[in-house]
Formats: sequence, structure tokens, C-alpha cells
Amino acid sequence: MARRTESRHAGAAYGAPAAGMDRTRRLVIVANRVPNPRERGASAGGLAVALQEAISGREAMWFGWSGQITETTATTPRLTRHRRLTYATLDLGAEDYRRYYQGFANASLWPMLHYRLGITQFDREDYAGYRAVNAAFAAALAPLLRPDDTIWVHDFHLFPLGGKLRRLGGAAGARRRIGFFLHVPFPPRSVFLALPRADELLADLAAYDVIGVQTEEDAAHLRDALRRAGHAAAARRVGAWPAGIDAEGFAAMAERAARGPEAARLRASLVGRALVIGVDRLDYTKGLPHRFIGYGRLLAGFDGRHLGDVTYLQFAPVSRSEVAQYRALRRELDELTGRINGQYAEFDWVPLRYITRAVARTTLAGFMRIARVGLVTPLRDGMNLVAKEYVAAQNPEDPGVLVLSQFAGAAGDLKGALVVNPLDPDEIAEALDRALSMPTAERIARWRQMMEAVRTNDAAAWSRGFLATLEGGSASALAAEHGGKAA
Ligand code: ADP
Ligand code: F6P
Repeated sequence: MARRTESRHAGAAYGAPAAGMDRTRRLVIVANRVPNPRERGASAGGLAVALQEAISGREAMWFGWSGQITETTATTPRLTRHRRLTYATLDLGAEDYRRYYQGFANASLWPMLHYRLGITQFDREDYAGYRAVNAAFAAALAPLLRPDDTIWVHDFHLFPLGGKLRRLGGAAGARRRIGFFLHVPFPPRSVFLALPRADELLADLAAYDVIGVQTEEDAAHLRDALRRAGHAAAARRVGAWPAGIDAEGFAAMAERAARGPEAARLRASLVGRALVIGVDRLDYTKGLPHRFIGYGRLLAGFDGRHLGDVTYLQFAPVSRSEVAQYRALRRELDELTGRINGQYAEFDWVPLRYITRAVARTTLAGFMRIARVGLVTPLRDGMNLVAKEYVAAQNPEDPGVLVLSQFAGAAGDLKGALVVNPLDPDEIAEALDRALSMPTAERIARWRQMMEAVRTNDAAAWSRGFLATLEGGSASALAAEHGGKAA
């Protein structure tokens, strides 16, 4: 078959001592997504963005799916070296891709973890495929490991991986430091348990030495689920580390890009109108239909004062397009865009510009700096790095305003945002109206608070905090936490 490409409060509740991370050990990152070595920093997806910082200046290996789909899942990884980082990637067989990625990961776990039980599906064969791919990843990774590697597994695709690695490694495997970080929310126990086999997934998580989540709310939910499933020791190994971005790097990139040719073209096209920007994968958790409707209400209401005065630019790169819910969302957004533009456009003004492609990170940064408003309204989101990127991109003397969902993990930190309930289009419209007319002094005061938080909880603080706990906790403390299993 032809190939297709498709802090501050960090870890506060964790019991083990955090003596500091050990940069002499090799860091092995295991994640379904592996960025393309030739496109550093260009991926659409928060996981890859957050992790770039963790590996910088340290010997590391990044293991995961190649992004290629072939006849059968590969057993030997393809190795590519880029300075001190080795990429080790496996092609996925078409059936495994369908069952593991499209099926259990994205049609079962993703909606459930985002509190969407109504669209959560379950299929036993998908689940078996998910476990089989985790076993195949573990088997392909094990021979590449050195005894003192630190292993950091990421996200909901790979819950079972740590346990499988331990079993393959015998006594040495049992003693390995293996950490896990969940980039998406962890819902209340009653929601989690609605998914068949949820108890097995909790047992999978209990195999890790440190289990990281984005917020204290997620941590409380996960601890409760683990404790009540009989994994009290594992519950004590849960901590919250809010993921961040390279704040200074993104700010510098935005400043440069705002002086570049693409920013100039965008500015010229606005002919003085205020810009509202949205940047999200095309995903139903991002609240895009409600957001579009809210923008329509902004145009329709407020005595018509925004008609012809504002332009909303939404980037929404197509994501997981073989999953039915994502295809349906795309149709819905195509229709809403057509309706809003059809109703309000003038021959020289298109109120909503909607682009379903990924664009270069530097272009995005420059556009964010030009935008008077950053519109980030997910229905539920682990953290949402776009909110932090928008803040970092601003001109300190004339910053824009962030309109942010109360259900994004980032809302915990970004108190200077105009916080909205993303299910209420009228509230979105009111926040937009307020943002568009906010005086400079208020914009600066709000932005300063947010920028301080984005700087403090940046990507380096996130990975340092997690790894300090994983690598700094003494082996005996971790073993004791495992109920003696690792001794
Ligand atoms: P998620 O992990 O659910 O995708 P995040 O907001 O945490 O959500 O991260 C999304 C990342 O993907 C951000 O770094 C953002 O800049 C990037 N991104 C989103 N849309 C695009 C796009 N159209 N082009 C390039 N990068 C994008
Ligand atoms: O951040 C959440 C996440 O699901 C990551 O695990 C993932 O890499 C990213 O969103 C993009 O999704 P996908 O890898 O399915 O394209």
C-alpha cells in the first residue's frame, strides 16, 4: 500500500522530594506525535510545541509514530539524528492506525476526557488495537533504551506504555524512572468511569513513577479516580504542572514578524479595521461554532457600530479528518462562515476570514501581534497554548485583549483576560465589544499581569518542574511509592 501522511504551583501535592533534574541522563520522550526534524516548531498541536524546550541542550531521543501509514506496523524504528536529539519513529499499519488512533484514542478517549460523553464511542476491537499498538511501541523502544535513561511518556494515546515497558525490562525495567504527562483534561471520576475498561486505564497509569496533569482541578479528579480504584500510592504520585511556551522566544519572533512582508500585507488588507484572531486545530472541543455565532451577534447588535469596523481571522487547520465528528464540524463551520459573510459582507469588506491550513509559526506570531483581540474559547481544554502565545506576541505599549474561555486550563493563570463562558454566544459578543473599545491603560494593566504569568510558567519551568520530581525523587522513595514493586 502507498504511504499516506496524514512553576509556581508545580507538583505541589506530590510527596517525593524534588532534588533537581539530572541533565546527565538521556531524556527519552515517547509521544504519538513526533515533530518533523526539518520543520522545527511548525507543528499544529500543543504537545510538540511545549516539548521543544524540554529537549534543548540535553541528549534526548523522541520516540513515536512517523506520521506514515503502511500495510503493517513497523517493528524497527527509523532513526534520524539532529544534533543531540535522535528521532526514532515507527510507521503504523492501516488497521492499527484506524483502531488505535482514529478509534480508541480519538473517538473514545478524546471526547470522554473533554467531558463529551454524548459523542463518546466504544468498540472492543478499537480498544484491543490501542493496547496492541502500545505493546508494539514498547517492544520497539525497549532495545533502544540505556539503563539510566529517564523516560517521559506523553498523552492519552499511551496510557498503557509505561506498564508494558516495565514488564519487558524485567528487574531493570521495574526500576526505571518512567513519568507520564497528560496534556488534556482529566474529568471527574464519574465521567471517566463511563468509558468501558476505564479501570484498566487507571491501572495503566498506576505503573508510572510520576503522573503529571495540567491543573489542580485535573489532579484532584485523577487522584480521586485512582484512590477509589485501589491505587492509593499512585494517587500520591500525581502532580499539576501547567504547560507553557518559550515566552521570550515567541515575543521576539512576533516583534520581528510584525515588521515582515506578510504582516505588512495583512495590515494593508485591513485598511484600518481592528483585527480579531483565532488559532485552533479544527476540533469540536475548541468551541468554534459558538465563537462564530458570537461574532455574528457582535455584528448584528451593539447599534451596528461594529459593522464594517472589524475583521475576524480564524486559522483552523484540519485535524483528524477521518473521524466522523471532525468532518461534521468542518461542514458546520463552512456553512456558518458562508452565512455570516453572506449576511454582513460588503463589496469591500469580508467580516470573517476562515483558513483551514497550518501556517508557519512565525507568520502566526506576527499576525497575533497585529490583532486587537485574541479569541480563545474552547469548551474544554487541557491548557491552551494559543492563549499564552497571543499574550507573548503583544506590543507592551499597545497590547491587545485576550478573550478566554473559563474552561481552558490557561484561565487559571491568565487573570487579565476577559473570561467568558464559551457556550454563551452573547457573552462572547459582549466581551468582544468590550475588548474592541478598551482604553490603552486598562489593556496594558491586564496584559502585564498575563505576561508575568506566561513568563513564570513557561515551557522551561514546566519541563524542569516535572523532570525535577521524576529525576530528583530518590529511587527508594519511588520504590516505596510503588508499594515495593520497584525495589
Ligand atoms: P492543542 O494541543 O489542542 O492543539 P494548543 O492551543 O495547546 O491546542 O496548541 C496548539 C498549537 O498549535 C499552538 O502552538 C498553535 O500555535 C499551533 N497551531 C494552531 N493552529 C495552527 C495553524 N493554523 N498553523 C500553525 N500552527 C498552529
Ligand atoms: O495536545 C493535545 C493533542 O492531542 C496532542 O497529543 C496532539 O499531538 C495534538 O493535540 C494534535 O493532535 P494530533 O496529534 O491528533 O494531530
